[in-house]
Amino acid sequence: MDAKKVTTIVFCNVVVLLLATVVQSCPPSDRAALLEFRSNLNEPYIGVFNSWRGQDCCNDWYGVSCDPNSHRVSAITLRGISEEPLFQRAKRKGVMTGSISPAICDLTQLSGLTLSDWEGISGAIPTCITNLLAMRHLDLVGNKISGVIPANIGNLSKLTVLSLADNQISGEIPPSITRLTSLSHLDLRSNGVTGVIPGDIGRLKMLSRVLLSGNKLSGRIPESLTRIYRLADLELSMNRITGPIPASFGRMSVLATLNLGGNLISGEVPGSLMSSSISNLNLSGNLVEGNIPDTFGLRSYFTVLDLSNNRLEGGIPESMETASFIGHLDVSHNQLCGKIPAGEPFDRLDATSFGYNKCLCGTPLGDCKK
Ligand SMILES: *[C@@H]1O[C@H](CO)[C@@H](O)[C@H](O)[C@H]1NC(C)=O
Ligand SMILES: *[C@@H]1O[C@H](CO)[C@@H](O)[C@H](O)[C@H]1NC(C)=O
Repeated sequence: MDAKKVTTIVFCNVVVLLLATVVQSCPPSDRAALLEFRSNLNEPYIGVFNSWRGQDCCNDWYGVSCDPNSHRVSAITLRGISEEPLFQRAKRKGVMTGSISPAICDLTQLSGLTLSDWEGISGAIPTCITNLLAMRHLDLVGNKISGVIPANIGNLSKLTVLSLADNQISGEIPPSITRLTSLSHLDLRSNGVTGVIPGDIGRLKMLSRVLLSGNKLSGRIPESLTRIYRLADLELSMNRITGPIPASFGRMSVLATLNLGGNLISGEVPGSLMSSSISNLNLSGNLVEGNIPDTFGLRSYFTVLDLSNNRLEGGIPESMETASFIGHLDVSHNQLCGKIPAGEPFDRLDATSFGYNKCLCGTPLGDCKK
Protein backbone atom coordinates (compact mmCIF):
# COMPACT_ATOMS: atom_id res chain seq x y z
CA MET A 1 0.00 0.00 0.00
CA ASP A 2 1.43 3.40 -0.91
CA ALA A 3 1.48 6.27 1.48
CA LYS A 4 -1.21 8.16 -0.45
CA LYS A 5 -3.67 5.27 -0.15
CA VAL A 6 -3.02 4.91 3.56
CA THR A 7 -3.56 8.63 4.05
CA THR A 8 -6.83 8.45 2.14
CA ILE A 9 -8.06 5.51 4.22
CA VAL A 10 -7.08 7.21 7.48
CA PHE A 11 -8.69 10.43 6.31
CA CYS A 12 -11.92 8.67 5.38
CA ASN A 13 -12.05 6.91 8.73
CA VAL A 14 -11.55 10.16 10.56
CA VAL A 15 -14.38 11.74 8.54
CA VAL A 16 -16.66 8.79 9.28
CA LEU A 17 -15.78 8.98 12.97
CA LEU A 18 -16.34 12.72 13.10
CA LEU A 19 -19.65 12.39 11.27
CA ALA A 20 -20.69 9.60 13.63
CA THR A 21 -19.86 11.76 16.63
CA VAL A 22 -21.78 14.71 15.25
CA VAL A 23 -24.79 12.58 14.32
CA GLN A 24 -24.78 10.61 17.60
CA SER A 25 -24.50 13.70 19.76
CA CYS A 26 -27.70 14.87 21.37
CA PRO A 27 -29.30 17.82 19.59
CA PRO A 28 -28.15 21.20 20.96
CA SER A 29 -31.76 22.03 21.79
CA ASP A 30 -32.06 18.95 24.04
CA ARG A 31 -28.76 19.82 25.69
CA ALA A 32 -29.89 23.40 26.27
CA ALA A 33 -33.19 22.19 27.76
CA LEU A 34 -31.35 19.85 30.14
CA LEU A 35 -28.99 22.60 31.26
CA GLU A 36 -31.93 24.94 31.85
CA PHE A 37 -33.69 22.15 33.78
CA ARG A 38 -30.55 21.65 35.86
CA SER A 39 -30.10 25.36 36.59
CA ASN A 40 -33.46 25.39 38.41
CA LEU A 41 -32.35 22.62 40.77
CA ASN A 42 -29.83 22.44 43.57
CA GLU A 43 -28.33 19.14 44.74
CA PRO A 44 -25.37 19.95 46.98
CA TYR A 45 -24.40 16.60 48.52
CA ILE A 46 -24.22 13.79 45.98
CA GLY A 47 -23.23 15.66 42.85
CA VAL A 48 -25.65 13.94 40.49
CA PHE A 49 -25.23 16.78 37.99
CA ASN A 50 -21.42 16.79 37.99
CA SER A 51 -21.38 14.57 34.90
CA TRP A 52 -23.63 16.96 32.96
CA ARG A 53 -20.69 18.42 30.99
CA GLY A 54 -19.56 18.49 27.39
CA GLN A 55 -21.55 18.66 24.18
CA ASP A 56 -23.05 15.17 24.07
CA CYS A 57 -25.79 14.90 26.65
CA CYS A 58 -26.37 11.31 25.51
CA ASN A 59 -22.88 10.36 26.60
CA ASP A 60 -22.64 9.55 30.30
CA TRP A 61 -24.77 12.33 31.66
CA TYR A 62 -25.95 10.78 34.93
CA GLY A 63 -29.65 9.87 34.76
CA VAL A 64 -30.09 10.89 31.12
CA SER A 65 -31.14 8.27 28.55
CA CYS A 66 -31.38 8.79 24.82
CA ASP A 67 -33.15 6.95 22.08
CA PRO A 68 -30.47 4.89 20.27
CA ASN A 69 -31.90 5.77 16.86
CA SER A 70 -32.97 9.38 17.07
CA HIS A 71 -30.39 10.38 19.72
CA ARG A 72 -33.05 12.46 21.38
CA VAL A 73 -33.35 12.53 25.17
CA SER A 74 -35.92 9.88 26.07
CA ALA A 75 -35.76 9.78 29.86
CA ILE A 76 -34.48 11.58 32.93
CA THR A 77 -34.22 9.28 35.94
CA LEU A 78 -32.95 10.85 39.15
CA ARG A 79 -33.84 9.08 42.38
CA GLY A 80 -32.91 10.51 45.77
CA ILE A 81 -32.47 7.02 47.19
CA SER A 82 -30.15 4.84 45.14
CA GLU A 83 -27.66 2.00 45.30
CA GLU A 84 -25.48 3.81 42.75
CA PRO A 85 -21.77 4.22 43.70
CA LEU A 86 -22.28 7.99 43.66
CA PHE A 87 -24.72 7.68 46.56
CA GLN A 88 -22.67 5.06 48.39
CA ARG A 89 -19.61 7.31 48.29
CA ALA A 90 -21.60 10.25 49.65
CA LYS A 91 -23.01 7.86 52.30
CA ARG A 92 -26.40 9.53 52.22
CA LYS A 93 -29.63 9.86 50.39
CA GLY A 94 -30.12 12.88 48.23
CA VAL A 95 -31.79 16.17 48.95
CA MET A 96 -32.63 18.41 46.04
CA THR A 97 -34.32 21.76 46.14
CA GLY A 98 -35.57 24.05 43.43
CA SER A 99 -38.33 23.40 40.95
CA ILE A 100 -39.05 21.68 37.66
CA SER A 101 -38.27 24.09 34.85
CA PRO A 102 -40.78 24.35 31.98
CA ALA A 103 -37.68 23.89 29.80
CA ILE A 104 -38.36 20.18 30.30
CA CYS A 105 -41.17 20.59 27.76
CA ASP A 106 -38.59 21.25 25.02
CA LEU A 107 -37.52 17.60 25.32
CA THR A 108 -40.28 16.62 22.93
CA GLN A 109 -39.35 12.93 22.82
CA LEU A 110 -39.26 12.51 26.60
CA SER A 111 -41.05 9.31 27.60
CA GLY A 112 -39.92 9.09 31.22
CA LEU A 113 -39.40 11.62 33.99
CA THR A 114 -38.43 10.30 37.43
CA LEU A 115 -37.49 12.79 40.12
CA SER A 116 -38.35 10.81 43.21
CA ASP A 117 -37.55 10.98 46.92
CA TRP A 118 -35.52 14.18 46.84
CA GLU A 119 -37.76 15.65 49.55
CA GLY A 120 -37.15 19.25 48.59
CA ILE A 121 -38.24 19.82 44.99
CA SER A 122 -41.07 22.35 45.17
CA GLY A 123 -43.17 24.45 42.85
CA ALA A 124 -45.81 23.20 40.46
CA ILE A 125 -45.74 20.60 37.71
CA PRO A 126 -45.25 22.71 34.54
CA THR A 127 -48.55 22.63 32.66
CA CYS A 128 -46.69 22.33 29.36
CA ILE A 129 -45.81 18.78 30.41
CA THR A 130 -49.09 17.79 28.77
CA ASN A 131 -47.46 18.57 25.41
CA LEU A 132 -44.97 15.71 25.88
CA LEU A 133 -47.07 13.20 24.01
CA ALA A 134 -44.45 10.42 24.20
CA MET A 135 -44.62 10.43 28.03
CA ARG A 136 -45.14 6.98 29.56
CA HIS A 137 -43.76 7.27 33.04
CA LEU A 138 -44.10 10.30 35.32
CA ASP A 139 -42.78 9.74 38.84
CA LEU A 140 -42.32 12.74 41.16
CA VAL A 141 -42.93 10.85 44.44
CA GLY A 142 -41.54 12.20 47.71
CA ASN A 143 -40.98 15.90 47.15
CA LYS A 144 -42.74 19.15 48.05
CA ILE A 145 -44.49 19.68 44.75
CA SER A 146 -47.56 21.87 45.06
CA GLY A 147 -50.19 23.25 42.73
CA VAL A 148 -52.62 21.17 40.73
CA ILE A 149 -52.38 18.21 38.36
CA PRO A 150 -52.41 19.85 34.89
CA ALA A 151 -55.97 19.88 33.54
CA ASN A 152 -54.88 18.48 30.18
CA ILE A 153 -53.05 15.48 31.66
CA GLY A 154 -55.51 13.40 29.63
CA ASN A 155 -53.57 14.35 26.48
CA LEU A 156 -50.76 12.02 27.52
CA SER A 157 -52.37 9.00 25.90
CA LYS A 158 -49.29 6.79 26.36
CA LEU A 159 -48.98 7.42 30.08
CA THR A 160 -48.81 4.15 32.02
CA VAL A 161 -47.48 5.36 35.39
CA LEU A 162 -48.55 8.53 37.19
CA SER A 163 -46.91 8.62 40.62
CA LEU A 164 -47.18 11.88 42.53
CA ALA A 165 -47.45 10.48 46.08
CA ASP A 166 -46.06 12.28 49.12
CA ASN A 167 -46.21 15.82 47.83
CA GLN A 168 -48.42 18.85 48.48
CA ILE A 169 -50.61 18.66 45.42
CA SER A 170 -54.01 20.29 45.75
CA GLY A 171 -57.04 20.78 43.54
CA GLU A 172 -59.19 18.09 42.01
CA ILE A 173 -58.36 15.01 39.96
CA PRO A 174 -58.71 16.44 36.43
CA PRO A 175 -61.70 14.88 34.63
CA SER A 176 -59.42 14.38 31.61
CA ILE A 177 -57.61 11.65 33.56
CA THR A 178 -60.20 9.19 32.33
CA ARG A 179 -58.74 9.58 28.82
CA LEU A 180 -55.45 7.98 29.96
CA THR A 181 -56.44 4.59 28.65
CA SER A 182 -52.91 3.14 28.98
CA LEU A 183 -52.65 4.03 32.66
CA SER A 184 -51.83 1.05 34.87
CA HIS A 185 -50.56 2.73 38.01
CA LEU A 186 -52.13 5.81 39.60
CA ASP A 187 -50.56 6.89 42.88
CA LEU A 188 -51.61 10.20 44.44
CA ARG A 189 -51.26 9.11 48.09
CA SER A 190 -50.56 11.69 50.81
CA ASN A 191 -51.35 14.94 49.07
CA GLY A 192 -54.16 17.46 49.47
CA VAL A 193 -56.30 16.38 46.52
CA THR A 194 -59.93 17.43 46.87
CA GLY A 195 -63.18 16.76 45.01
CA VAL A 196 -64.51 13.42 43.86
CA ILE A 197 -63.08 10.36 42.12
CA PRO A 198 -64.25 10.74 38.51
CA GLY A 199 -67.36 8.60 38.03
CA ASP A 200 -66.10 7.21 34.73
CA ILE A 201 -62.69 6.09 36.08
CA GLY A 202 -63.81 2.59 35.07
CA ARG A 203 -62.88 3.52 31.49
CA LEU A 204 -59.25 2.96 32.47
CA LYS A 205 -59.20 -0.77 31.81
CA MET A 206 -55.43 -1.13 32.24
CA LEU A 207 -55.40 0.08 35.85
CA SER A 208 -54.00 -2.39 38.34
CA ARG A 209 -53.18 -0.03 41.22
CA VAL A 210 -55.28 2.96 42.31
CA LEU A 211 -53.71 4.51 45.38
CA LEU A 212 -55.46 7.65 46.61
CA SER A 213 -55.11 7.33 50.41
CA GLY A 214 -54.39 10.36 52.54
CA ASN A 215 -56.11 13.11 50.59
CA LYS A 216 -59.31 15.12 51.01
CA LEU A 217 -61.41 13.23 48.50
CA SER A 218 -65.17 13.25 49.03
CA GLY A 219 -68.20 11.84 47.26
CA ARG A 220 -68.95 8.17 46.70
CA ILE A 221 -66.84 5.24 45.55
CA PRO A 222 -67.57 5.05 41.80
CA GLU A 223 -69.26 1.77 40.94
CA SER A 224 -67.32 1.83 37.66
CA LEU A 225 -64.11 0.94 39.55
CA THR A 226 -65.51 -2.56 39.99
CA ARG A 227 -65.48 -3.06 36.22
CA ILE A 228 -61.69 -2.69 35.94
CA TYR A 229 -60.89 -6.36 35.83
CA ARG A 230 -57.12 -5.92 36.26
CA LEU A 231 -57.52 -3.89 39.45
CA ALA A 232 -55.45 -5.51 42.22
CA ASP A 233 -54.94 -2.72 44.76
CA LEU A 234 -57.47 -0.06 45.65
CA GLU A 235 -56.45 2.22 48.48
CA LEU A 236 -58.79 5.07 49.37
CA SER A 237 -58.11 5.27 53.12
CA MET A 238 -57.97 8.54 55.08
CA ASN A 239 -60.24 10.63 52.89
CA ARG A 240 -63.81 11.94 53.30
CA ILE A 241 -65.55 9.40 51.14
CA THR A 242 -69.24 8.80 51.84
CA GLY A 243 -71.94 6.40 50.67
CA PRO A 244 -71.99 2.60 50.51
CA ILE A 245 -69.41 -0.03 49.52
CA PRO A 246 -70.29 -1.39 46.07
CA ALA A 247 -71.12 -5.09 46.47
CA SER A 248 -69.51 -5.87 43.13
CA PHE A 249 -66.03 -5.46 44.70
CA GLY A 250 -66.60 -9.01 45.93
CA ARG A 251 -66.94 -10.30 42.39
CA MET A 252 -63.70 -8.85 41.00
CA SER A 253 -61.23 -11.49 39.94
CA VAL A 254 -57.83 -10.14 41.05
CA LEU A 255 -58.69 -7.50 43.66
CA ALA A 256 -56.35 -8.29 46.56
CA THR A 257 -56.25 -5.09 48.62
CA LEU A 258 -59.31 -3.00 49.40
CA ASN A 259 -58.40 -0.32 51.90
CA LEU A 260 -61.25 2.05 52.69
CA GLY A 261 -60.25 2.83 56.31
CA GLY A 262 -60.76 6.28 57.80
CA ASN A 263 -63.61 7.61 55.71
CA LEU A 264 -67.32 8.31 56.19
CA ILE A 265 -68.54 5.18 54.45
CA SER A 266 -71.97 3.96 55.55
CA GLY A 267 -74.36 1.13 54.83
CA GLU A 268 -73.70 -2.56 55.44
CA VAL A 269 -70.72 -4.78 54.60
CA PRO A 270 -71.61 -6.56 51.34
CA GLY A 271 -71.59 -10.31 52.00
CA SER A 272 -69.66 -10.90 48.79
CA LEU A 273 -66.53 -9.29 50.28
CA MET A 274 -66.07 -12.10 52.79
CA SER A 275 -65.54 -14.84 50.22
CA SER A 276 -63.81 -12.99 47.42
CA SER A 277 -60.30 -12.58 46.02
CA ILE A 278 -59.65 -9.84 48.60
CA SER A 279 -56.97 -10.78 51.14
CA ASN A 280 -56.41 -7.37 52.70
CA LEU A 281 -59.71 -5.75 53.64
CA ASN A 282 -59.70 -2.63 55.77
CA LEU A 283 -63.00 -0.92 56.54
CA SER A 284 -61.80 0.48 59.87
CA GLY A 285 -62.93 3.91 61.05
CA ASN A 286 -66.11 4.35 59.06
CA LEU A 287 -69.86 4.43 59.76
CA VAL A 288 -70.54 0.88 58.61
CA GLU A 289 -73.53 -0.76 60.31
CA GLY A 290 -75.47 -4.04 60.36
CA ASN A 291 -74.02 -7.50 60.96
CA ILE A 292 -70.69 -8.97 59.93
CA PRO A 293 -71.89 -11.08 56.98
CA ASP A 294 -72.14 -14.80 57.68
CA THR A 295 -70.68 -15.58 54.28
CA PHE A 296 -67.15 -16.83 55.03
CA GLY A 297 -66.02 -20.01 53.37
CA LEU A 298 -63.05 -21.81 51.84
CA ARG A 299 -62.46 -18.90 49.47
CA SER A 300 -61.97 -16.55 52.43
CA TYR A 301 -58.27 -15.91 52.89
CA PHE A 302 -57.38 -12.77 54.81
CA THR A 303 -53.94 -11.58 55.80
CA VAL A 304 -55.75 -8.51 57.18
CA LEU A 305 -59.44 -8.18 58.05
CA ASP A 306 -59.93 -4.89 59.87
CA LEU A 307 -63.54 -3.98 60.62
CA SER A 308 -62.75 -1.98 63.77
CA ASN A 309 -64.24 1.39 64.72
CA ASN A 310 -67.58 1.06 63.00
CA ARG A 311 -71.19 0.51 64.09
CA LEU A 312 -71.38 -3.23 63.52
CA GLU A 313 -73.80 -5.19 65.69
CA GLY A 314 -74.83 -8.81 66.19
CA GLY A 315 -72.37 -11.61 66.85
CA ILE A 316 -69.21 -13.03 65.31
CA PRO A 317 -70.60 -15.11 62.43
CA GLU A 318 -70.21 -18.87 62.72
CA SER A 319 -68.95 -19.23 59.16
CA MET A 320 -65.81 -17.28 60.06
CA GLU A 321 -64.39 -20.55 61.39
CA THR A 322 -64.58 -22.00 57.88
CA ALA A 323 -62.26 -19.35 56.39
CA SER A 324 -59.04 -20.78 54.92
CA PHE A 325 -57.00 -18.21 56.80
CA ILE A 326 -57.44 -15.06 58.84
CA GLY A 327 -54.10 -13.58 59.91
CA HIS A 328 -54.88 -10.23 61.48
CA LEU A 329 -58.48 -9.75 62.63
CA ASP A 330 -59.78 -6.59 64.25
CA VAL A 331 -63.46 -6.14 65.13
CA SER A 332 -62.82 -3.89 68.14
CA HIS A 333 -64.76 -0.66 68.79
CA ASN A 334 -68.13 -1.80 67.45
CA GLN A 335 -71.47 -2.81 69.01
CA LEU A 336 -70.94 -6.57 68.73
CA CYS A 337 -72.42 -9.00 71.23
CA GLY A 338 -72.37 -12.71 72.05
CA LYS A 339 -69.82 -15.50 72.48
CA ILE A 340 -66.55 -15.52 70.54
CA PRO A 341 -66.34 -18.92 68.82
CA ALA A 342 -63.53 -21.34 69.74
CA GLY A 343 -60.91 -22.80 67.40
CA GLU A 344 -59.00 -21.23 64.49
CA PRO A 345 -58.50 -18.30 64.07
CA PHE A 346 -60.02 -17.20 67.38
CA ASP A 347 -57.72 -19.12 69.74
CA ARG A 348 -54.72 -17.39 68.17
CA LEU A 349 -56.00 -13.83 68.60
CA ASP A 350 -55.74 -11.65 71.68
CA ALA A 351 -58.22 -9.35 73.38
CA THR A 352 -57.26 -6.30 71.34
CA SER A 353 -58.96 -7.90 68.32
CA PHE A 354 -62.32 -7.91 70.15
CA GLY A 355 -62.24 -5.13 72.77
CA TYR A 356 -64.63 -2.19 73.14
CA ASN A 357 -67.78 -3.89 71.96
CA LYS A 358 -71.24 -3.97 73.49
CA CYS A 359 -71.24 -7.46 75.02
CA LEU A 360 -68.78 -9.80 73.29
CA CYS A 361 -67.59 -12.48 75.69
CA GLY A 362 -65.56 -15.68 75.95
CA THR A 363 -61.83 -16.25 75.31
CA PRO A 364 -59.80 -14.07 74.89
CA LEU A 365 -62.25 -11.71 76.65
CA GLY A 366 -63.95 -12.48 79.96
CA ASP A 367 -66.37 -15.36 80.54
CA CYS A 368 -69.90 -15.00 79.29
CA LYS A 369 -72.47 -14.43 82.05
CA LYS A 370 -74.99 -17.23 82.43
C1 LIG B 1 -54.93 18.69 24.82
O1 LIG B 1 -56.31 18.59 25.11
C2 LIG B 1 -57.05 19.77 24.96
C3 LIG B 1 -58.48 19.48 25.34
O2 LIG B 1 -58.57 18.59 26.41
C4 LIG B 1 -56.93 20.32 23.57
O3 LIG B 1 -57.59 21.56 23.50
C5 LIG B 1 -55.47 20.48 23.20
O4 LIG B 1 -55.34 20.88 21.87
C6 LIG B 1 -54.72 19.18 23.41
N1 LIG B 1 -53.31 19.37 23.13
C7 LIG B 1 -52.61 18.52 22.39
C8 LIG B 1 -51.18 18.87 22.19
O5 LIG B 1 -53.08 17.53 21.87
C1 LIG C 1 -56.78 0.16 58.57
O1 LIG C 1 -56.93 1.52 58.18
C2 LIG C 1 -56.80 2.44 59.26
C3 LIG C 1 -57.10 3.81 58.69
O2 LIG C 1 -56.28 4.08 57.60
C4 LIG C 1 -55.43 2.31 59.86
O3 LIG C 1 -55.30 3.19 60.95
C5 LIG C 1 -55.19 0.88 60.31
O4 LIG C 1 -53.87 0.74 60.79
C6 LIG C 1 -55.43 -0.09 59.18
N1 LIG C 1 -55.37 -1.46 59.68
C7 LIG C 1 -54.38 -2.32 59.38
C8 LIG C 1 -54.46 -3.66 60.01
O5 LIG C 1 -53.46 -2.02 58.66
